Amino acid sequence: MERLQKVMAHAGIASRRKCEDIIEQGRVKVNGTTVTELGTKVQSTDLIEVDDVPIYREEPRYFLLYKPKNTISAVSDDKDRPVVVDLIKDVDERIYPIGRLDFDTTGLLLLTNDGDFANLLMHPSYQVPKTYIAKVSDIPTEKGMQQLRRGIKIDGKKTAPAQAKVKSINRENRTSIIELTIHEGWNHQVKKMLEAINCPVSKLKRERLGFLDLGNLNPGEYRELTAFEVDKLRKMAEK
Ligand code: URA
Repeated sequence: MERLQKVMAHAGIASRRKCEDIIEQGRVKVNGTTVTELGTKVQSTDLIEVDDVPIYREEPRYFLLYKPKNTISAVSDDKDRPVVVDLIKDVDERIYPIGRLDFDTTGLLLLTNDGDFANLLMHPSYQVPKTYIAKVSDIPTEKGMQQLRRGIKIDGKKTAPAQAKVKSINRENRTSIIELTIHEGWNHQVKKMLEAINCPVSKLKRERLGFLDLGNLNPGEYRELTAFEVDKLRKMAEK
């Protein structure tokens, strides 16, 4: 069940605030009955009419994108840089990314037009593990790896315990590949955590989000999530 003004705004009638005015003006009917109460909740089977014209309600859509490098995790960019939404073709619904990956980060990014689902997944208490593979320009010490695992102070806050593994070391170039699984989603979190142990990131990829991975996708490719996957993510978040 969703609030009437939210459903109307989502269908492109007007902003949520303007939709509230339209409801109060008595211009909205739900299943043939005029509704002027702002708290009214509706479900997907309800017929909503504004000025006696039925509104078109978007179907919820859910995509898993392999975000390529040099794309912005947004629906538009004031500097006209490529945005992730443009990679999803033949979709009329107004989808947007759930959270963000940095411009130069690649990997798994979810997109949807379902605001409740996006809010649920982005809520700070949502603890879905996110796994990143980072190429760093140094060799981490065991102490540094332990700090990552126990939690490390960045921007005055301590990160939750994480899983951290050294996947490989190139002693000649003094670079390493580190796998890091974190549970929060702070801004530039992985880069800041690795910077804090003196291993600046030169390349970053998100490989997994909970039980989802990139499968056979190549950068720039995407697929729709199955209904099962959407329900499972929802259940995990609601726990
Ligand atoms: N952490 C980062 O530092 N960057 C990302 O894009 C994602 C997580």
